[in-house]
Amino acid sequence: LERVRVDLGDRSYNILIGPGLIQQVGCLIRTVCSGERLFVVTDTRVNGLHGSLLRAGLEKAGFSAVFAPIPPGEKQKCLRRLEDLSVHMAQEGFDRGATVVAFGGGVIGDLAGFLAAVYMRGVQYVQVPTTLLACVDSSVGGKTAVNIPTAKNLLGAFHQPRLVIQDVNLLCTLSPRDVRAGAAELVKHGVILDRGFFDDLRANTRRLMDLEPEFTAYALRRSCEIKARVVSSDEREAGLRAILNFGHTVGHAVEAVAGYGAYRHGEAVAIGMVAEARLAEQMGFAREPVSEPIAGLLSDMGLPICLRADVNVEDLVSTMYADKKTRGGRLHIVLPREIGCAEPVPLDDPSKLAAVLRGMVCSRVSH
Ligand SMILES: NC(=O)c1ccc[n+]([C@@H]2O[C@H](COP(=O)([O-])OP(=O)(O)OC[C@H]3O[C@@H](n4cnc5c(N)ncnc54)[C@H](O)[C@@H]3O)[C@@H](O)[C@H]2O)c1
Ligand SMILES: [Zn+2]
Repeated sequence: LERVRVDLGDRSYNILIGPGLIQQVGCLIRTVCSGERLFVVTDTRVNGLHGSLLRAGLEKAGFSAVFAPIPPGEKQKCLRRLEDLSVHMAQEGFDRGATVVAFGGGVIGDLAGFLAAVYMRGVQYVQVPTTLLACVDSSVGGKTAVNIPTAKNLLGAFHQPRLVIQDVNLLCTLSPRDVRAGAAELVKHGVILDRGFFDDLRANTRRLMDLEPEFTAYALRRSCEIKARVVSSDEREAGLRAILNFGHTVGHAVEAVAGYGAYRHGEAVAIGMVAEARLAEQMGFAREPVSEPIAGLLSDMGLPICLRADVNVEDLVSTMYADKKTRGGRLHIVLPREIGCAEPVPLDDPSKLAAVLRGMVCSRVSH
């Protein structure tokens, strides 16, 4: 069993990581929750694969659980679904003492977390993430949100869970593409703050991609420690938390320009990390070669490191700056000084970045 403490004063909580934890899920939730009833938000896919395990784990500890499975997919992270779930909770008689359990990927985590943040002005919740991305990223840090038709994550709240339970065995039903997409965020954590972890990933890439339980639990623990450290020192994203955006300035633009769905988030972030590392070299910001080791590791993981030929570089750059304009102020981009150390820097002149991106367009389209 691996354990990470997220230090946030009286809102501190533990992240527990290990194979088979789902069997003890009820006993573990008992340690942080009073009450006998739980409201479980999940999606139909996760529920079909692992719902009975969760139910058994909860009932063993004497909980009665109301399951609310919704269809899978990003579209469900919306106000309409939030309202439906609130009505369901109210009809079931859940009051201020309710506990919400988020059982699924980042979509379920964000939606159920926001439900817990606003239901009766806030109830407690527990995260039981089931995707690699949710384990290393969205279940840690207390950011919750839903989308509106014109913008992702526009409505949300900071609301910390009472506990995060990560059973690495649940990840075995993920598609290889989902594993790769989550792995990109692990690489990011190594690059921004922990060179030793980056080296571990390089030396054990196969073990991670095969989801070998021992190494996977270790990698999740190290990665959560890094994110927990950033979140503890900057819960509301005033400063340090910005370095978590490494790879994301370019990555978000790639997602938007290629059309949502063309790239998985992690794939776009992989391309973004390579681009931003190359830019750090071009600007003389990096103290050592950074793009080679990053691109090498990402490509060993099966992640893309060049841009599809149909993605227009000018569109990428204008998307990044348009995004900046709506937020007011200058475009900041996170650049690595070296592997294990990164800083946000303002980028007023886009020409170097455009040149880097042009150099990353694939010469042939791979299938
Ligand atoms: N709150 C944060 O800090 C934060 C950080 C990063 C991302 N996010 C959010 O996370 C979301 C993306 O999360 P995601 O990639 O986990 O997507 P997701 O929740 O849509 O899950 C992806 C797919 O995997 C399926 N799935 C989940 N667990 C499975 C399992 N064990 N086996 C087989 N299939 C399984 C789901 O049914 C779904 O179809 C986005 O909405 C993003 O905005 C939030
Ligand atoms: Zn991300």
